[in-house]
Amino acid sequence: MASSTPLARLLEERSSGRVVKHLAAILDQLPNSYCQLESLGRHECVIRGRRMLNFNAINYLGLEQHPEMIASAQQALATWGTLAGSSRAAAEVGLYEKLESKIAEKIGVESVIVYPTVTLANHGVIPLLMRKRSLLLTDQEVHNSVQRAAIEAKGAGATLGSFIHDDFTQLEQILEAQRGQHSHAMIALDGVYSMAGTYLNLPRYEAIAKKYDAMLYIDDAHGFGVVGPEGRGIVSHYGSNYDNTIYVASLEKGLASLGGFVAVPQAARDYFRYNSYTYTFSGQLPPPYLASALTAMEILEREKGARLTRLHELIGRVKTEVQEIGFEVIGEDHPFPLVMVKVGEFENIPEVSQFFYDEGVHILTVGFPVIPQSRGAMVRISLSATHADSQIDRLMAAFRKLHAKLNPSRTQQDSRECLADTASSVAA
Ligand SMILES: Cc1ncc(COP(=O)(O)O)c(C=O)c1O
Repeated sequence: MASSTPLARLLEERSSGRVVKHLAAILDQLPNSYCQLESLGRHECVIRGRRMLNFNAINYLGLEQHPEMIASAQQALATWGTLAGSSRAAAEVGLYEKLESKIAEKIGVESVIVYPTVTLANHGVIPLLMRKRSLLLTDQEVHNSVQRAAIEAKGAGATLGSFIHDDFTQLEQILEAQRGQHSHAMIALDGVYSMAGTYLNLPRYEAIAKKYDAMLYIDDAHGFGVVGPEGRGIVSHYGSNYDNTIYVASLEKGLASLGGFVAVPQAARDYFRYNSYTYTFSGQLPPPYLASALTAMEILEREKGARLTRLHELIGRVKTEVQEIGFEVIGEDHPFPLVMVKVGEFENIPEVSQFFYDEGVHILTVGFPVIPQSRGAMVRISLSATHADSQIDRLMAAFRKLHAKLNPSRTQQDSRECLADTASSVAA
């Protein structure tokens, strides 16, 4: 790379750092990371010419190939074209009003505002609310987009702090020391932690918020559509309310569309619309996504929870079988369709990733820095209500084979014990 311009010098410096090189060396060995999908079907995909079972995509309710979803997106394309071409602050596609009312009605709030993505919702809302005289505390495992928005809030004058994931003692210590010097305090959390598949402990956080006169900010990107009665999200799961909570969620993971929304009181709606920069200065969602989000909600309403019932069946089956095979499952008690399986230590990651590729299974293998170092190597199974039983059979067969590969002596011992048991029962 030429080092003659400031840009070239900057890029050379950045891309030759030790951490970057280390990451690249690992990622280069992972056939299931940063790869290209050559085609995508119903839980199948083609990567480097190989047909694979797909347990990597997040489409919990399996709506992404639903004929009504595709038809409504096509209809919206025919009616509105590919793009409205302006920010919502200028003029918005009429579908917004219907979609926002439907979401607000579903979760039981006065009003919601839809943004093009959850990231843009987080950036639109967090630095708007948290500025001078504000204390913003983030869980260390809250989604990256919340952490980045928090840095923006710091730039706007907020005091920023973070605490170890779910370390209530540390959180209280920080609040004890700092709450008095600030007019407002907000604790930022995820509704479901996507690298653990675990639910937010809302009752504990609500109690702390009440004790220290703070509010909560919950990014429930994964929970909406899936968690709680009729998939109304994490707040509804706990039978709580939105009086002291800013609730943000996604139209992607459960609804197979695009976009993020924030629940706001009607009286504050215009405050957000006129002041949040990612509302005013970003473009709006393309019409097909507004239409397919609406259609997804209509399908789910009509089906009365059938997809959630099926999803829970699959979650139960996979968690039980993976543990029976001999692997540790994280967040065992949380019935969430991201199943995190400990498969070894950090050094095992390339071997495990290659193993699943060779078995024809597209699945996420993660380690540090995506998850804390102490968790070693994990495989994340992403389940969907429309995975077929035969696809789960194949996945479980792959996990059985992986267990035998990683624990050869244990497996030989198991089969010896099994043979001995059989011999003694035959003798009896
Ligand atoms: C908790 C959480 N928040 C935000 C996002 C970002 O969502 P978007 O792609 O809509 O910006 C994700 C993405 O996976 C997420 O898991």
